[in-house]
Amino acid sequence: MKAIVVTDEAAGTAGMTLAKRPPPEAAGNDVLVEVHASGFTPGELTWPSTWTDRLGRDRTPSIPGHELAGVVSALGYGTTGLSVGQRVFGLTDWTRDGTLAEYAAVEARNLAQLPGDVDFTVGASLPISGLTAWQGLFEHGRVQAGQSVLVHGAAGGVGSIVTQLARETGAYVIGTGRAADRQTALDFGAQEFVDLENDTLEDVGGVDLVFDVIGGDIGNRSAGLIRAGGTLVTIAGPPEARPADGRAIDFVVEADHAQLKEIVQRVRDGRLRTVIGNVATLDDAVAAFNPTERVKGKTIIRVRP
Ligand SMILES: NC(=O)c1ccc[n+]([C@@H]2O[C@H](COP(=O)([O-])OP(=O)(O)OC[C@H]3O[C@@H](n4cnc5c(N)ncnc54)[C@H](OP(=O)(O)O)[C@@H]3O)[C@@H](O)[C@H]2O)c1
Repeated sequence: MKAIVVTDEAAGTAGMTLAKRPPPEAAGNDVLVEVHASGFTPGELTWPSTWTDRLGRDRTPSIPGHELAGVVSALGYGTTGLSVGQRVFGLTDWTRDGTLAEYAAVEARNLAQLPGDVDFTVGASLPISGLTAWQGLFEHGRVQAGQSVLVHGAAGGVGSIVTQLARETGAYVIGTGRAADRQTALDFGAQEFVDLENDTLEDVGGVDLVFDVIGGDIGNRSAGLIRAGGTLVTIAGPPEARPADGRAIDFVVEADHAQLKEIVQRVRDGRLRTVIGNVATLDDAVAAFNPTERVKGKTIIRVRP
């Protein structure tokens, strides 16, 4: 099969190449998925799981990309819950070969059915940002109606979904980002916007929940904005500063098929949308991940037209 592979950690996305690889086999409780659309996060190329397996053994050449939408083409031994021919989408294991390929082997429990009226391209754009937003807001942040939520990077992949879900919950949402992202954040439902380049973050006053996707100085200053009993949720690594009288949680997104069902239902009924930027073929994927100019939104690779 055709796949994008990486062998050199230092090379970043410039080291990606299109190659021929043997198709994967579905192990116990896996399904083999014929990939129609694939999502990739550039940060993957800095994660140890891209280069070594769970025992720390070199697993290069590895196939990046951990989001997919496609069709089940085979079942592994003992696999239940999915059937051959079913449309699926989901998040694949960080330490196995990924989705920038014509086929991927995935544990069935990590996938959910992709309804027929949701395009494969949209399906592949949902797992990481959708699950991260869901888990950060509801599981770790325990957001409640009436609370105030400060969402950093509210025009970005994760932040835009956090903003939409927090509004749906009945929270008051203050989005942040660059000056140029103000209108996008407001369009996603933010009721106020803090331009991190020109406004003073501290003018926000106290909030119940901060969802931080930026970290560093922004993360440190955000800890001081949390009201007593509030929570700082971050996906930008362990926080250096913690709220004086509240919780600080950093986490890495996990696969969850029940949450994927909730997310895709919201896409179908118009409550949620993602920002898709460039859509390219597998043959053009290396160029798409090494753009000559900045592309807003997620790049999706259409493996099959
Ligand atoms: N821990 C986890 O499980 C997990 C899961 C998903 C993502 N992540 C990480 O979370 C981060 C965000 O992911 P994403 O997909 O939402 O990325 P994204 O689509 O690039 O969104 C980030 C947003 O924040 C803005 N931003 C970043 N730094 C800023 C700054 N200093 N001032 C103002 N605005 C700033 C970006 O603006 P510009 O585009 O103009 O920079 C963009 O709008 C990434 O580092 C990603 O690797 C972690």
